[in-house]
Amino acid sequence: MILRLQDLHFPEEAARLFPDTPDRALYLEIGFGDGRFWPAFVEGLPDVPNYLGVELSGVSLLKAARRLRAAGLRNAHVAKLPATVMLESVIAPGRLSGIIVNFPDPWPKADHLDQRLLRAPFFRLAASRLKPGGAVLFTTDHQEYFEFACREAEASGVMEVRLEPPPAAALATKYALKWRDLGIEAQHARFVPTAHPAVPLHAVTPYPDQEAQVPHAIMTLPDPFDLSDFERVTVRGEHHTVVLLDAYRSLRRDEYTVLAHVEEGELIQEVLVNVTGRRDGSTLVRLAKFGGPVITAGVKAAVGAVADELQRRGAVLTHHGY
Ligand SMILES: C[S@@+](CC[C@H](N)C(=O)[O-])C[C@H]1O[C@@H](n2cnc3c(N)ncnc32)[C@H](O)[C@@H]1O
Repeated sequence: MILRLQDLHFPEEAARLFPDTPDRALYLEIGFGDGRFWPAFVEGLPDVPNYLGVELSGVSLLKAARRLRAAGLRNAHVAKLPATVMLESVIAPGRLSGIIVNFPDPWPKADHLDQRLLRAPFFRLAASRLKPGGAVLFTTDHQEYFEFACREAEASGVMEVRLEPPPAAALATKYALKWRDLGIEAQHARFVPTAHPAVPLHAVTPYPDQEAQVPHAIMTLPDPFDLSDFERVTVRGEHHTVVLLDAYRSLRRDEYTVLAHVEEGELIQEVLVNVTGRRDGSTLVRLAKFGGPVITAGVKAAVGAVADELQRRGAVLTHHGY
Protein backbone atom coordinates (compact mmCIF):
# COMPACT_ATOMS: atom_id res chain seq x y z
CA MET A 1 0.00 0.00 0.00
CA ILE A 2 1.10 3.56 -0.60
CA LEU A 3 1.89 5.56 2.54
CA ARG A 4 1.49 9.31 2.28
CA LEU A 5 3.63 11.62 4.36
CA GLN A 6 0.59 12.75 6.33
CA ASP A 7 -0.39 9.12 7.10
CA LEU A 8 2.90 8.37 8.82
CA HIS A 9 3.67 8.47 12.51
CA PHE A 10 7.05 9.82 13.57
CA PRO A 11 8.41 7.34 14.52
CA GLU A 12 6.37 4.44 13.22
CA GLU A 13 5.55 1.25 15.09
CA ALA A 14 5.53 -2.17 13.42
CA ALA A 15 2.22 -2.96 15.15
CA ARG A 16 0.55 -0.06 13.32
CA LEU A 17 2.11 -0.55 9.89
CA PHE A 18 2.11 -4.34 9.92
CA PRO A 19 -0.71 -5.38 12.28
CA ASP A 20 -0.72 -9.01 11.04
CA THR A 21 3.06 -9.51 11.18
CA PRO A 22 4.48 -7.04 13.73
CA ASP A 23 7.25 -9.37 14.89
CA ARG A 24 8.82 -10.09 11.52
CA ALA A 25 12.10 -8.56 10.40
CA LEU A 26 11.81 -5.16 8.72
CA TYR A 27 13.66 -4.19 5.52
CA LEU A 28 13.92 -0.77 3.88
CA GLU A 29 14.61 -0.46 0.16
CA ILE A 30 15.87 2.91 -1.04
CA GLY A 31 15.13 3.92 -4.64
CA PHE A 32 13.17 0.78 -5.58
CA GLY A 33 12.45 2.01 -9.14
CA ASP A 34 9.70 -0.11 -10.65
CA GLY A 35 9.70 -2.41 -7.60
CA ARG A 36 10.98 -5.65 -9.10
CA PHE A 37 13.53 -6.44 -6.39
CA TRP A 38 11.42 -7.24 -3.35
CA PRO A 39 8.94 -9.77 -4.86
CA ALA A 40 11.89 -11.65 -6.42
CA PHE A 41 14.00 -11.46 -3.23
CA VAL A 42 11.31 -12.93 -0.98
CA GLU A 43 9.80 -15.42 -3.42
CA GLY A 44 9.29 -18.76 -1.72
CA LEU A 45 10.12 -17.51 1.80
CA PRO A 46 7.67 -18.88 4.39
CA ASP A 47 7.64 -15.74 6.57
CA VAL A 48 8.13 -12.81 4.22
CA PRO A 49 9.76 -9.95 6.15
CA ASN A 50 7.99 -6.62 6.51
CA TYR A 51 9.00 -4.12 3.83
CA LEU A 52 9.14 -0.35 3.50
CA GLY A 53 10.24 1.20 0.23
CA VAL A 54 11.11 4.82 -0.49
CA GLU A 55 11.32 6.51 -3.88
CA LEU A 56 11.41 10.03 -5.22
CA SER A 57 9.61 9.22 -8.46
CA GLY A 58 5.81 9.17 -8.32
CA VAL A 59 5.56 7.04 -11.47
CA SER A 60 7.87 4.42 -9.93
CA LEU A 61 5.80 4.52 -6.74
CA LEU A 62 2.64 3.53 -8.63
CA LYS A 63 4.41 0.83 -10.64
CA ALA A 64 5.97 -0.70 -7.53
CA ALA A 65 2.71 -0.56 -5.54
CA ARG A 66 0.98 -2.45 -8.38
CA ARG A 67 3.75 -5.04 -8.49
CA LEU A 68 3.68 -5.63 -4.72
CA ARG A 69 -0.09 -6.01 -4.81
CA ALA A 70 0.08 -8.42 -7.75
CA ALA A 71 2.61 -10.50 -5.77
CA GLY A 72 0.16 -10.63 -2.85
CA LEU A 73 2.63 -8.93 -0.48
CA ARG A 74 0.33 -7.40 2.10
CA ASN A 75 3.12 -6.50 4.51
CA ALA A 76 4.86 -4.16 2.06
CA HIS A 77 4.42 -0.40 1.96
CA VAL A 78 5.92 2.23 -0.31
CA ALA A 79 6.23 5.99 0.15
CA LYS A 80 7.30 8.92 -2.01
CA LEU A 81 9.89 10.25 0.38
CA PRO A 82 13.63 10.95 0.42
CA ALA A 83 15.54 8.10 2.05
CA THR A 84 17.04 10.21 4.81
CA VAL A 85 13.63 11.50 5.92
CA MET A 86 12.43 7.90 6.31
CA LEU A 87 15.57 6.94 8.22
CA GLU A 88 15.83 10.07 10.37
CA SER A 89 12.20 10.59 11.32
CA VAL A 90 10.08 7.50 10.63
CA ILE A 91 12.25 4.54 11.59
CA ALA A 92 13.26 4.38 15.22
CA PRO A 93 16.81 3.33 16.19
CA GLY A 94 17.64 -0.38 16.00
CA ARG A 95 14.52 -1.46 14.05
CA LEU A 96 15.86 -2.56 10.65
CA SER A 97 17.23 -5.93 9.63
CA GLY A 98 18.35 -4.67 6.27
CA ILE A 99 18.65 -1.62 4.03
CA ILE A 100 18.71 -2.38 0.31
CA VAL A 101 20.21 -0.01 -2.22
CA ASN A 102 20.24 -1.29 -5.81
CA PHE A 103 21.83 0.78 -8.57
CA PRO A 104 21.55 4.20 -6.90
CA ASP A 105 22.04 7.28 -9.06
CA PRO A 106 25.84 7.50 -9.42
CA TRP A 107 26.20 11.30 -9.73
CA PRO A 108 29.45 10.83 -11.68
CA LYS A 109 30.51 14.49 -12.03
CA ALA A 110 33.19 15.62 -9.58
CA ASP A 111 31.14 18.59 -8.35
CA HIS A 112 28.06 16.38 -7.74
CA LEU A 113 29.67 13.89 -5.35
CA ASP A 114 27.86 15.42 -2.38
CA GLN A 115 24.57 14.31 -4.01
CA ARG A 116 25.52 10.66 -3.59
CA LEU A 117 23.49 8.75 -1.06
CA LEU A 118 26.23 6.44 0.21
CA ARG A 119 28.47 8.83 2.11
CA ALA A 120 29.77 8.61 5.67
CA PRO A 121 26.79 10.45 7.31
CA PHE A 122 24.39 8.02 5.62
CA PHE A 123 26.36 5.05 6.97
CA ARG A 124 26.23 6.43 10.52
CA LEU A 125 22.48 7.01 10.21
CA ALA A 126 22.02 3.53 8.72
CA ALA A 127 24.08 1.91 11.52
CA SER A 128 21.90 3.68 14.10
CA ARG A 129 18.68 2.31 12.55
CA LEU A 130 19.95 -1.25 11.94
CA LYS A 131 19.67 -3.88 14.63
CA PRO A 132 22.61 -6.12 15.53
CA GLY A 133 23.06 -8.57 12.67
CA GLY A 134 21.49 -6.15 10.16
CA ALA A 135 23.30 -4.77 7.12
CA VAL A 136 23.18 -2.42 4.15
CA LEU A 137 23.09 -4.43 0.90
CA PHE A 138 24.49 -2.38 -1.96
CA THR A 139 24.61 -3.38 -5.62
CA THR A 140 25.80 -1.16 -8.45
CA ASP A 141 27.14 -1.25 -11.99
CA HIS A 142 29.27 1.84 -11.31
CA GLN A 143 32.80 0.81 -10.36
CA GLU A 144 33.89 4.25 -9.20
CA TYR A 145 30.78 4.79 -7.01
CA PHE A 146 31.26 1.29 -5.64
CA GLU A 147 34.83 2.09 -4.50
CA PHE A 148 33.70 5.51 -3.24
CA ALA A 149 30.92 3.93 -1.14
CA CYS A 150 33.30 1.33 0.33
CA ARG A 151 35.73 4.12 1.31
CA GLU A 152 32.93 6.19 2.81
CA ALA A 153 31.64 3.20 4.78
CA GLU A 154 35.10 2.66 6.26
CA ALA A 155 35.51 6.40 6.91
CA SER A 156 32.21 6.39 8.83
CA GLY A 157 33.98 4.35 11.52
CA VAL A 158 30.86 2.24 12.12
CA MET A 159 30.75 -0.14 9.15
CA GLU A 160 32.69 -3.18 8.09
CA VAL A 161 32.81 -3.74 4.32
CA ARG A 162 32.23 -7.30 3.10
CA LEU A 163 32.56 -7.95 -0.63
CA GLU A 164 30.11 -10.64 -1.72
CA PRO A 165 28.29 -11.73 -4.86
CA PRO A 166 25.00 -9.81 -5.34
CA PRO A 167 21.71 -11.51 -4.44
CA ALA A 168 20.09 -12.96 -7.57
CA ALA A 169 17.11 -10.59 -7.23
CA ALA A 170 19.44 -7.57 -7.43
CA LEU A 171 20.62 -8.79 -10.83
CA ALA A 172 17.06 -8.77 -12.17
CA THR A 173 16.01 -5.16 -11.49
CA LYS A 174 15.27 -2.81 -14.36
CA TYR A 175 18.66 -1.13 -14.07
CA ALA A 176 20.52 -4.41 -13.52
CA LEU A 177 19.15 -5.71 -16.81
CA LYS A 178 19.93 -2.45 -18.57
CA TRP A 179 23.61 -2.59 -17.57
CA ARG A 180 23.86 -6.34 -18.11
CA ASP A 181 22.66 -5.87 -21.70
CA LEU A 182 25.52 -3.38 -22.16
CA GLY A 183 27.96 -5.96 -20.81
CA ILE A 184 28.62 -4.14 -17.51
CA GLU A 185 28.95 -6.34 -14.42
CA ALA A 186 27.40 -5.47 -11.09
CA GLN A 187 29.39 -5.14 -7.86
CA HIS A 188 27.99 -5.91 -4.44
CA ALA A 189 28.96 -5.08 -0.87
CA ARG A 190 27.38 -5.88 2.47
CA PHE A 191 28.05 -3.10 4.98
CA VAL A 192 27.77 -4.52 8.48
CA PRO A 193 27.64 -2.15 11.47
CA THR A 194 30.50 -2.50 13.93
CA ALA A 195 28.78 0.00 16.23
CA HIS A 196 25.30 1.49 16.50
CA PRO A 197 25.85 5.21 17.06
CA ALA A 198 23.08 7.19 18.70
CA VAL A 199 21.50 9.26 15.94
CA PRO A 200 18.32 10.61 17.56
CA LEU A 201 15.02 10.77 15.75
CA HIS A 202 14.44 14.02 13.93
CA ALA A 203 11.10 15.16 15.32
CA VAL A 204 8.23 15.67 12.89
CA THR A 205 4.61 16.15 13.94
CA PRO A 206 1.85 15.30 11.46
CA TYR A 207 -1.19 17.53 11.00
CA PRO A 208 -2.84 17.04 14.37
CA ASP A 209 -6.42 16.14 15.07
CA GLN A 210 -6.64 18.77 17.78
CA GLU A 211 -7.45 22.00 16.01
CA ALA A 212 -5.66 24.03 18.66
CA GLN A 213 -2.30 22.55 17.65
CA VAL A 214 -2.46 23.79 14.07
CA PRO A 215 -0.01 26.69 13.81
CA HIS A 216 -1.98 29.92 13.77
CA ALA A 217 -2.06 33.57 14.75
CA ILE A 218 -4.88 35.96 15.55
CA MET A 219 -4.35 39.46 14.23
CA THR A 220 -6.13 42.72 13.62
CA LEU A 221 -5.56 44.01 10.11
CA PRO A 222 -5.50 47.71 9.28
CA ASP A 223 -8.43 49.02 7.27
CA PRO A 224 -8.05 49.16 4.31
CA PHE A 225 -5.71 46.20 3.87
CA ASP A 226 -4.16 45.01 0.64
CA LEU A 227 -1.56 42.39 -0.31
CA SER A 228 -1.53 43.09 -4.06
CA ASP A 229 2.07 44.36 -3.93
CA PHE A 230 3.24 41.18 -2.14
CA GLU A 231 6.81 40.20 -2.96
CA ARG A 232 8.71 37.01 -2.23
CA VAL A 233 9.98 36.77 1.37
CA THR A 234 12.81 34.43 2.44
CA VAL A 235 13.38 33.49 6.10
CA ARG A 236 16.32 31.30 7.11
CA GLY A 237 16.43 29.46 10.43
CA GLU A 238 19.11 27.16 11.77
CA HIS A 239 17.43 24.05 10.34
CA HIS A 240 14.96 25.41 7.81
CA THR A 241 14.44 27.86 4.99
CA VAL A 242 11.01 29.33 4.34
CA VAL A 243 10.15 31.20 1.16
CA LEU A 244 6.77 32.92 0.97
CA LEU A 245 6.29 32.61 -2.78
CA ASP A 246 3.03 34.37 -3.49
CA ALA A 247 -0.26 35.58 -2.04
CA TYR A 248 -3.67 34.94 -3.60
CA ARG A 249 -6.86 36.83 -2.91
CA SER A 250 -10.21 35.07 -2.66
CA LEU A 251 -12.62 36.01 -5.44
CA ARG A 252 -15.59 35.96 -3.11
CA ARG A 253 -14.31 37.57 0.05
CA ASP A 254 -11.55 39.77 1.32
CA GLU A 255 -9.38 36.83 2.29
CA TYR A 256 -5.95 35.62 1.27
CA THR A 257 -3.93 32.46 0.91
CA VAL A 258 -0.14 32.56 1.01
CA LEU A 259 1.90 29.86 -0.75
CA ALA A 260 5.04 28.94 1.20
CA HIS A 261 7.96 26.70 0.25
CA VAL A 262 9.56 25.05 3.29
CA GLU A 263 12.90 23.22 3.19
CA GLU A 264 14.26 21.25 6.13
CA GLY A 265 17.16 19.14 4.92
CA GLU A 266 15.69 16.77 2.36
CA LEU A 267 12.12 17.29 3.55
CA ILE A 268 10.54 19.82 1.22
CA GLN A 269 6.91 20.91 1.53
CA GLU A 270 4.77 23.47 -0.27
CA VAL A 271 2.13 24.65 2.19
CA LEU A 272 -0.75 27.12 2.17
CA VAL A 273 -1.41 29.62 4.94
CA ASN A 274 -4.93 31.07 5.03
CA VAL A 275 -5.68 34.62 6.17
CA THR A 276 -9.40 34.71 6.96
CA GLY A 277 -11.77 37.09 8.72
CA ARG A 278 -13.46 36.06 11.99
CA ARG A 279 -16.91 37.07 13.19
CA ASP A 280 -15.47 39.41 15.84
CA GLY A 281 -13.58 41.42 13.19
CA SER A 282 -10.18 39.91 13.91
CA THR A 283 -8.24 37.82 11.39
CA LEU A 284 -7.08 34.22 11.67
CA VAL A 285 -3.77 33.28 10.06
CA ARG A 286 -3.63 29.50 9.93
CA LEU A 287 -1.94 26.62 8.18
CA ALA A 288 -4.35 25.09 5.63
CA LYS A 289 -5.06 21.37 5.72
CA PHE A 290 -4.87 21.25 1.91
CA GLY A 291 -2.17 18.86 0.68
CA GLY A 292 -1.82 17.19 4.09
CA PRO A 293 1.13 19.16 5.42
CA VAL A 294 3.31 17.69 8.11
CA ILE A 295 3.78 20.21 10.89
CA THR A 296 7.47 20.73 11.41
CA ALA A 297 9.45 23.60 12.91
CA GLY A 298 9.81 24.94 9.37
CA VAL A 299 6.08 24.82 8.68
CA LYS A 300 5.41 26.66 11.96
CA ALA A 301 8.01 29.20 10.87
CA ALA A 302 6.10 29.65 7.60
CA VAL A 303 2.97 30.63 9.54
CA GLY A 304 5.15 32.93 11.67
CA ALA A 305 6.63 34.47 8.52
CA VAL A 306 3.15 35.27 7.21
CA ALA A 307 2.22 36.87 10.56
CA ASP A 308 5.48 38.90 10.47
CA GLU A 309 4.76 40.05 6.93
CA LEU A 310 1.26 41.18 7.95
CA GLN A 311 2.74 43.05 10.93
CA ARG A 312 5.13 44.84 8.57
CA ARG A 313 1.99 45.98 6.78
CA GLY A 314 0.42 47.41 9.92
CA ALA A 315 -1.42 44.40 11.38
CA VAL A 316 -1.40 43.88 15.15
CA LEU A 317 -0.69 40.43 16.58
CA THR A 318 -2.96 39.56 19.50
CA HIS A 319 -2.24 35.85 19.92
CA HIS A 320 -0.10 33.23 18.28
CA GLY A 321 0.39 29.46 18.40
CA TYR A 322 3.30 28.57 16.13
C1 LIG B 1 19.04 4.30 -11.10
S1 LIG B 1 17.50 4.10 -10.34
C2 LIG B 1 17.51 2.42 -9.78
C3 LIG B 1 16.14 1.87 -9.56
C4 LIG B 1 16.05 0.42 -9.07
N1 LIG B 1 16.68 0.23 -7.79
C5 LIG B 1 16.63 -0.54 -10.09
O1 LIG B 1 17.64 -1.18 -9.79
O2 LIG B 1 16.03 -0.66 -11.18
C6 LIG B 1 17.71 5.00 -8.80
C7 LIG B 1 16.38 5.33 -8.15
O3 LIG B 1 16.63 5.91 -6.87
C8 LIG B 1 15.68 6.93 -6.64
N2 LIG B 1 16.24 7.85 -5.64
C9 LIG B 1 17.26 8.72 -5.81
N3 LIG B 1 17.54 9.38 -4.67
C10 LIG B 1 16.68 8.91 -3.74
C11 LIG B 1 16.43 9.22 -2.38
N4 LIG B 1 17.15 10.15 -1.73
N5 LIG B 1 15.45 8.57 -1.73
C12 LIG B 1 14.69 7.65 -2.38
N6 LIG B 1 14.87 7.32 -3.68
C13 LIG B 1 15.84 7.93 -4.36
C14 LIG B 1 15.45 7.55 -8.00
O4 LIG B 1 14.19 8.19 -8.09
C15 LIG B 1 15.55 6.32 -8.92
O5 LIG B 1 14.28 5.76 -9.19
